[in-house]
Amino acid sequence: MAHKNTITNIQNKKKTGKKITMLTAYDHFMGKLVDEAGIDAILVGDSLGMVVLGHESTNQVTMQDMIRHAGAVRTGTTSALLIGDMPYRSFDDPAIAVKNAKRLVREGGCDAVKLEGESYGAASAILKEGIPVLGHLGLTPQTAKEFKVQGKDAAAAKAILKSAKRLEALGCFALVLECVPAELAGMITARLAIPTIGIGAGADCDGQVLVLNDILGLYDKFRPRFAKRYTNLAEPAMKAISSFKEEVEDGRFPKREHSFIMKKEELEKLK
Ligand code: KIV
Repeated sequence: MAHKNTITNIQNKKKTGKKITMLTAYDHFMGKLVDEAGIDAILVGDSLGMVVLGHESTNQVTMQDMIRHAGAVRTGTTSALLIGDMPYRSFDDPAIAVKNAKRLVREGGCDAVKLEGESYGAASAILKEGIPVLGHLGLTPQTAKEFKVQGKDAAAAKAILKSAKRLEALGCFALVLECVPAELAGMITARLAIPTIGIGAGADCDGQVLVLNDILGLYDKFRPRFAKRYTNLAEPAMKAISSFKEEVEDGRFPKREHSFIMKKEELEKLK
């Protein structure tokens, strides 16, 4: 079994110039695959709402959803650092944030939590309780009015850089940068001691995160340009489902090898 990834291991990767890998997962089986592939960290993202639960946005995701799915991923994860996303409105004020972060750790088995945006009060309160926090700046889907690149002009870029420094100063262990120009992400990465994990933020971040269902071709409603599709599992899945349907309908399934056969004498008695 590979060693358990810790926050220190992950932060050391920045120091030694090794890239950090992070993927989302939402259930036991996929979490196990990601873990066994040696990915450094698994994020149970609130993207759950869109790619698994079929909602239009991430904002319908509840704490109960997050705890249930984080718990399922936990049972398949031994090496990766497990991070749970704090869903929309679950960190509205510091006291609520602490209560919910504790639930993600205690009930969902998470090693750390992620908070979107400039949630300094909530982040600081959670950190004071000893729960590691991953920040998330740039495009923050829970509050974004539009899905577009953030920090394109100098003023907006400066504001993101300032927020990044503030989250670092509070004690966040790393920072997700979503949908920002590569140059800005590179600048933030160079100016922070904590690692940056990019998604649509270019190659200069300390690590990269993508949504698992996007890279596997298991989500087709929305496909941002950064979501590289490494395979299209929907195709073989559809083929298998259609074959099952055809074989049941024309009597080719099940065969004798898929059935349980009674002993002849028992069958005779039954007759
Ligand atoms: O919810 C999620 O999956 C995320 C990643 C896209 C970073 O926040």
